[in-house]
Amino acid sequence: MASDPENIGNARKQLVKLFETSLRTTVPEESDVEPLVAACTAKFGDYQCNNAMSLWPKIKGKKTEFRGPPAVGQALMKNLPSSEMVEACSVAGPGFVNVTLSKNWIAKNIQKMLIDGIETWAPGLSIKRVVVDFSSPNIAKEMHVGHLRSTIIGDTLARMLEFSNVEVLRRNHVGDWGTQFGMLIEFLFEKFPDWESAGETAIGDLQAFYKASKQKFDEDPVFKERAQKAVVRLQGGELRYRSAWAQICDISRREFDGVYQRLGVSLEEKGESFYNPYIPSVLEKLSGLGLVEESEGARVIFLEGYERPLIVVKKDGGYNYASTDLTALWYRLNIEKAEWIIYVTDVGQSEHFQMFFKAAKRAGWLPDDDKAYPRTSHVGFGLVLGEDGKRFRTRSTEVVRLADLLDEAKARSKAVLVERGKDKEWSEEDLDKIAEAVGYGAVKYADLKNNRTTNYTFNFDQMLNDKGNTAVYLLYAHARICSIIRKSGKDIEELKKTGSVALNHQDERALGLHLLQFAETVEEACTNLLPNVLCEYLYNLSENFTKFYSNCQVVGSADETSRLLLCEATAVVMRKCFHLLGIVPVHKL
Ligand code: ARG
Repeated sequence: MASDPENIGNARKQLVKLFETSLRTTVPEESDVEPLVAACTAKFGDYQCNNAMSLWPKIKGKKTEFRGPPAVGQALMKNLPSSEMVEACSVAGPGFVNVTLSKNWIAKNIQKMLIDGIETWAPGLSIKRVVVDFSSPNIAKEMHVGHLRSTIIGDTLARMLEFSNVEVLRRNHVGDWGTQFGMLIEFLFEKFPDWESAGETAIGDLQAFYKASKQKFDEDPVFKERAQKAVVRLQGGELRYRSAWAQICDISRREFDGVYQRLGVSLEEKGESFYNPYIPSVLEKLSGLGLVEESEGARVIFLEGYERPLIVVKKDGGYNYASTDLTALWYRLNIEKAEWIIYVTDVGQSEHFQMFFKAAKRAGWLPDDDKAYPRTSHVGFGLVLGEDGKRFRTRSTEVVRLADLLDEAKARSKAVLVERGKDKEWSEEDLDKIAEAVGYGAVKYADLKNNRTTNYTFNFDQMLNDKGNTAVYLLYAHARICSIIRKSGKDIEELKKTGSVALNHQDERALGLHLLQFAETVEEACTNLLPNVLCEYLYNLSENFTKFYSNCQVVGSADETSRLLLCEATAVVMRKCFHLLGIVPVHKL
């Protein structure tokens, strides 16, 4: 059986196809059984098929020649179509079918990837267009470490989906339409009557400006009333209010963009205000379906399983977070035709998302089955903690400014490089670039490597350590591979064309198999929305490489060509992992 071009490099998917055929032959009556194929953790083989055990109870009573799950396993093995990818099979324990892949087939796949490019190992997903709603800070309020997590996680998810040939709408759903604007605008008018010409320099630090206006709002009832009226005038479209609003948004935007640029993250802003004009008609549609009710002066949607309803129009007639999100969802589904809409925020917002997802299901916008498309997912993440186990703050208990945090990451990694004398070896420009790659990479990796739902402790010393599971260690591992290839003096492009890969030593084979599992790992990480799965893969790749390199001589050995090609394949896969994690790989360190 020839390899399926769609699944090049995806061994698991190809095995699924083989077992599908075997299942149809073995138990033709059970036509809806899906093959259960997974990579092996025990060393009986590389993959295992686990269908025998769950099939047995289904076929037991019926007229069948089988006498228990191991016999079903035997039959599944016997009926497996012959394929060049399989070297050996065996049945173990209660009926697992273990499969050992052919090492020549693995080698051939790696060689093919080296020639045709890593893109041929991209997962093939069945969806075309996805919205990833991430970062999404609030104008004039601080962009805090929670937004940093959202930015890092969202960017990685977007990158993995893009690599899988899905069109991704990277959405920055900034909070640019809250009641805080009334207060900010009134404060601006009061403090700086000539704001139109001097506004920008006058406002200066927007966060300090926010604080001062909030203080006035809380202390001065006359001001408070004016601020509340200002919101109405702004939302009514009064020109002076609109342009003050636009100016405030611009200042914030410039600050956010600075952070995105440093992190290498691209985002398209469609803030809350964008959806505002669509809210009335969307709420009308929901009312038409009988979903919206009057309750204590507000308009709400009651949802099964929740004591409090979802408020969609406040008592004062204003719209809120939920009305905007329902409208944005409608827009994304109907105007933008997105099939999957992914929201990346802290877990504290879970209930909000679950509630409006449920409302959308009731409206018939989304199917009841959570896995069917069109589909919405809330990607929740835990808190960022400081050394003291409490919310991450600066010494003066202020919220940490992201720009300061990135400055420190860079400065620390630069200091280490200087300590190692790299300032004398490299140009100033290289030193700066590499310090940024390492510093920012360390911050990102420390965040991504944990299961996102857990809280994580922010610790510069730990993340910048060159040992253990850190970006620094991984960047070193990659740079070392580049230097092995460089020092061999061989033209790797030439070797790709003339040489071939062989996996005779067990450590060569283990590395080869791990390389081949790249595609299925990315697929798992992006379909389950878990970047830590890719981090774990990358870390294990470097462990596999280290083992190979300590036990197999590369330069000067009889297998030099094949082993250099394995080095190159490892470097290529590592670079792609770095790229997907938003980390800039360096070729020297
Ligand atoms: N602005 C919100 C916050 O800072 C996050 C918005 C997330 N996206 C959404 N569609 N609700 O918490």
